[in-house]
Amino acid sequence: MAHVPVLLNEVLETLAPREGQIMIDATVGGGGHGIPIARRLSPGGTFIGIDWDEKRLKELREAIGQEVLDLEKLILVCSNYADLVDVLEREGIGKVNGLLIDLGFSSDQLGEGKGFAFKGKEEPLAMTYSDYDTPLYQILGTLGERQIAEIIKDLSDERYAGRIAKAIVLERKKSPIVTNHDLAKVVRGAVPKNYEGGRIDPATRTFMAFRIYANRELENLGRILGGLTEIVRSGGRAVIISYHSKEDAMVKHFFKDLAEKGEAILISKKAIKPTDLEVKQNPRSRSAKLRAIEIK
Ligand SMILES: C[S@@+](CC[C@H](N)C(=O)[O-])C[C@H]1O[C@@H](n2cnc3c(N)ncnc32)[C@H](O)[C@@H]1O
Repeated sequence: MAHVPVLLNEVLETLAPREGQIMIDATVGGGGHGIPIARRLSPGGTFIGIDWDEKRLKELREAIGQEVLDLEKLILVCSNYADLVDVLEREGIGKVNGLLIDLGFSSDQLGEGKGFAFKGKEEPLAMTYSDYDTPLYQILGTLGERQIAEIIKDLSDERYAGRIAKAIVLERKKSPIVTNHDLAKVVRGAVPKNYEGGRIDPATRTFMAFRIYANRELENLGRILGGLTEIVRSGGRAVIISYHSKEDAMVKHFFKDLAEKGEAILISKKAIKPTDLEVKQNPRSRSAKLRAIEIK
């Protein structure tokens, strides 16, 4: 299913891109937010799109090629957004008017051979956005039972984390866990039959936890938050959409601290959430929370 951008109107209203400005979409994906932003920067503006997944950028280049844009500069870079300060320096870009970060993965990445999905095709259990990062099937082989349990518990609040970790270690002794199906099968077999009353697949939380771990997602978020005032100019805005309680807590506290230090203004005290209509049309938006600040 093609990826549908989450909270698109709210992003555009908050960033309010205008002709000639410079803006970054640091998780540009299929350009669901990035292309409408780039259109509004044109003519004369600069749009910088970053994604860690090369395939996303290749497709985006094609999609952007269909657009009639009159930008001064269009820069698309395959990189970890945590390295954004260095990327901007290398590209000779100073501080920008707007920055968007839409965390996590996109629906376009399911079924593409990265093993993100616990359903559908059998794929190698890579779970990394970047093709050059250590795949989860290798990482898993190096972790002990306690570490596995902690990762699953900390990053997903899975209450059967201990049982799942034990099952993974037992299975690993018999045969290596190398595909998404291998992992999903072990998890499903480790939890009670009536897991969550059948509302969600038992593999959901464990897959999310391992994805966050394999890509160091909390660390990356911490690094880009730390560089925010070097990236966004005075009067410019940063918008972050998160889908995970830990990520949202990090953004909330970081923004609050910046505001208390007098370095930024909170655009809204509470997180902006999708309307019921958006959730109905795009169930993936259900857990989204948008927070924004303006740099002083
Ligand atoms: C939720 S999707 C963005 C979708 C996009 N906003 C749209 O609507 O088309 C998140 C994207 O961020 C990318 N990503 C995840 N972690 C990243 C990181 N550390 N650095 C750069 N890109 C990252 C993923 O590859 C994915 O394409």
